[in-house]
Amino acid sequence: MSFEQIKKTVFFQIKEINNPNELENLRIKYLGRKGELTLILRGLKDLSIEKRRQEGPLAQRFKKELEEAINKKQKEISGFNSQKKNQLIDISRPGKRVLSGHLNPLTKIEKEIRQIFLAMNFSVVEGQEIEDDYHNFDALHIPKDHPARDAWDTFWLKPINDKQLKAGNKPLLRTHTSPMQIRYMEKYQPPFQIIVPGRVFRYEATDASHETTFKQVEGLMVGEDISLVNFKFIIEEFLKKLFGEKIDFEFRPSYYPFVEPGVDVYMKWKNKWLEVAGAGMVHPEVFRAVNYNPYKWQGFAFGFGLDRLAMIKYKIPDIRMFYGGDLRFVKQF
Ligand code: PHE
Repeated sequence: MSFEQIKKTVFFQIKEINNPNELENLRIKYLGRKGELTLILRGLKDLSIEKRRQEGPLAQRFKKELEEAINKKQKEISGFNSQKKNQLIDISRPGKRVLSGHLNPLTKIEKEIRQIFLAMNFSVVEGQEIEDDYHNFDALHIPKDHPARDAWDTFWLKPINDKQLKAGNKPLLRTHTSPMQIRYMEKYQPPFQIIVPGRVFRYEATDASHETTFKQVEGLMVGEDISLVNFKFIIEEFLKKLFGEKIDFEFRPSYYPFVEPGVDVYMKWKNKWLEVAGAGMVHPEVFRAVNYNPYKWQGFAFGFGLDRLAMIKYKIPDIRMFYGGDLRFVKQF
């Protein structure tokens, strides 16, 4: 074959090749020791000087082009093969564990509590974590100089404007979810039944059952002829649904300025009685503060410590674990 003939056909041939053996054969055919192009190059020395000068560089350049084309094809073919290899899946190999996040037990129990009360026809509302003196205390029948205020050690905030300052209505981090009782009744008329889950804050020393921030679930049911009997029924239903039929709980008389009579709910935890809620019948003064007629409406209110319910349900020995951020703890739920 002449140089020109090779040039015409070889690139076309390379294009058609798709396996390494064929490619090697082609390389030998043209570039091998006795290859056609090799022979032509070798024959150049027999030509006249003039012809040699003319054809030599052309042949050399062509040889280079051919080598490059072969190399390129080789890469293509091996790439194709290794891609095929990767597609083989060994289904007998153990899988990789997919890491998933975990809900904090407080989130879990809150979801459950919402469901239980929704099923009993309660609505769920949420309040604000930054409250004011009036809603957190005054309207709940806890006047400014009342010693009962000591029961709620308060994180006071700086007033943000003159109006707050003058009205003596200082901002604070709510110490309980009860101010939402007032805000709800300011806006809506009875009858209704609501729960208010939310975070609350207390300026206190911590121990196994006390934190400076924790969660409560407030409840409020107002209507005509609502009595302590309704309260007992709802609470017992709620606890049974959350803990199962066999529960250890009891009611004890208690005192809160915004209820009369007042009740505390206790449950067994670490073989001791632990207070899990404050509650009672809504005080007539609270109804007056929101312009409800206390002769017409009665109601009960309660405030569960959500952390304490979670401690009992999941057998957690220390409330501070909820907020410690230790993954070994959270991963168990
Ligand atoms: N807010 C009270 C507390 O945080 C609990 C409570 C709620 C008591 C509703 C009575 C009625 O201690």
